Amino acid sequence: MNFSMEQYQQSANYLREQLGGFVPKVAMVLGSGLGYLGDQVEQPIYVDYQNIPHFKSSTAPGHRGRLVFGLLEGQNVAVMQGRMHHYEGYSYEEVTYAIRVLRLLGCDTLIVTNAAGCINTQWQAGDLMLITDHIKMFSESPLRGENLPEFGTRFPDSSQLYTPKLRTLARNAAKKLNISLREGVYFYCYGPQYETPAEIRAARLLGGDAVGMSTAPEVIVAGHCGMQVLGITLLSNMAAGILDQPLSEQEVLDAAETAKGTFSSLIRTCLQML
Ligand code: HPA
Repeated sequence: MNFSMEQYQQSANYLREQLGGFVPKVAMVLGSGLGYLGDQVEQPIYVDYQNIPHFKSSTAPGHRGRLVFGLLEGQNVAVMQGRMHHYEGYSYEEVTYAIRVLRLLGCDTLIVTNAAGCINTQWQAGDLMLITDHIKMFSESPLRGENLPEFGTRFPDSSQLYTPKLRTLARNAAKKLNISLREGVYFYCYGPQYETPAEIRAARLLGGDAVGMSTAPEVIVAGHCGMQVLGITLLSNMAAGILDQPLSEQEVLDAAETAKGTFSSLIRTCLQML
């Protein structure tokens, strides 16, 4: 099924009614265990996904399922506390639906965060990574189906999905805070099973540094509708087969908890510098 322009407009209109003239500029998607940044928004207006026409709810652990509008470091933000994933049973179009709605509301920038497995053996669990690019070539595109030209062209360029200017900004923010920030390629796997060691070796050969089950669909859609994108990954665990131990959801959430301080100061400083 493809959503129509009318449906996107209906969702945007509903949100405009809740916002009383507030216009968000920066959309933020907060990943596994990273949703607390949404609790720091000033003058917050909360809207549960379940109340927004055509929205789906997030069912993943560590994902709250609401939008928070307000101010963060002086920026007008729309924070997604919790995102939808393909593995929850949603189509890629459903997974990325909110991005287009936030674009209609006025967002021209997307800051996207996630927890991911670390493929690069030079790095460690707990490190932060600036996403320079992604690989999502083994699953269908969120842009499949009828193109809506109001959002963008049929065959959008993908050579600079992660906006170079924002990457420079994030590097400078990390420097200012004295935080070490890795840079690399996010390799998308749809999950929900964690990858096999052989899949991780294949992903490494193909150029992946981090592996995760989110982000790439939203970024494709954001790029299509002309948004600037900044992506930050928390490398929550070494990817499958690197260490002699099984992967677990708990490990991911624990890493997010530990990284809370550095992660939120990095994102806040990026917002200040926008
Ligand atoms: N693989 C896929 N997704 C993930 C991982 C992983 O190792 N860690 C956190 N999200």
